[in-house]
Amino acid sequence: MLLEKDFIYNGTLEGLEKGSFEWSAPSNIALVKYWGKKEHQIPANPSVSFTLNNCKTVTKLSFVKKESDNGFSFDLLFEGKEKETFKPKIQKFFERIESYCPYLKNYHFTIDTLNTFPHSSGIASSASGMAALAMNIMNLEKTLNPEMEESYFYSKASFLARLGSGSACRSVKGNVVVWGAHKEIEGSTDLFGITFPETIHDVFNNYQDTILLVDKGEKQVSSTVGHDLMHGHPFAEQRFEQAHENLSKIKTILQNGDLENFIKVVESEALILHAVMMTSVPYYILMKPNTLEIINRIWKYRSETGVPVCFTLDAGANVHVLYPQQVKEKVLEFIQQELVGYCQNSQYICDEIGKGSEKIN
Ligand code: DP6
Repeated sequence: MLLEKDFIYNGTLEGLEKGSFEWSAPSNIALVKYWGKKEHQIPANPSVSFTLNNCKTVTKLSFVKKESDNGFSFDLLFEGKEKETFKPKIQKFFERIESYCPYLKNYHFTIDTLNTFPHSSGIASSASGMAALAMNIMNLEKTLNPEMEESYFYSKASFLARLGSGSACRSVKGNVVVWGAHKEIEGSTDLFGITFPETIHDVFNNYQDTILLVDKGEKQVSSTVGHDLMHGHPFAEQRFEQAHENLSKIKTILQNGDLENFIKVVESEALILHAVMMTSVPYYILMKPNTLEIINRIWKYRSETGVPVCFTLDAGANVHVLYPQQVKEKVLEFIQQELVGYCQNSQYICDEIGKGSEKIN
């Protein structure tokens, strides 16, 4: 089992004078939610997610060696234009990972990044963004240390991504990723995400996630502020315990394909996330009336047709509609007929379970 100290690079700092890499990393959607953390981005409870396929960040990292190793520096381009507002988060990320990646201080970087999904769609890009950046940084480390094993490469990439944004550590690999130590999941750790170690039932192959864009505005509560609300929350301990129990249930479900219980756990997790937000101090309601309309319609459709479609939510108003590929046609017809009217500008994004980060150049 890799420990934190194993991620401190202590090899040569003599490497490339300049160059560039390019990686993409997808977003992910949690089935059991990460909500609450300790210091150093250690989750308060384990979580599990489906890695997505279409909602991605594509990041090119160019680097030039500096005259003196007096600290890293970087420029940031988003869709080809300088983006000052993203810089503090990246700066903080570099500062957090510096001690694990001492070679960073030798370089000036240009980070050129874009998302394949519409920005200001209310879809968090921090998971895909931090994962794509972490992949590029590990690519640089691999050129300094070509002997590095592939499994270490991905584990450290996930470890670094976690320090950028917790859920980002679940975007490095596919198709189902567990982050956080859980007694029944072999190899699970708080330090990085691991691919779900058991064989997954065929019903989850190409599982669909249609994201209904209910509210495309800025998030009312940033997730970092949101996680803080769990400190001193009256239900925190019960919630963390429940996440462990739900992960045990999901572990069995992912192997036996029991969709009825899958739906129960996944929808309950989504509502719990919102319930703890409503009972925090200060409190928030992040759903919109249309979120509830959609949930009610999904419930009605499911009880009338028996089609195993369910919803999950992030820390916002958008609804992720999850269903097996076998019922895709039916569910898309239902979405088009009954749900698009509740989406802002009738917008939704079709995605599905995917394989994780990919090297482009
Ligand atoms: C509701 O990973 O965005 O999406 O670690 O502060 O960057 P930070 O938080 P972040 O939190 C995601 C929370 C969530 C649930 C989840 O993805 O598990």
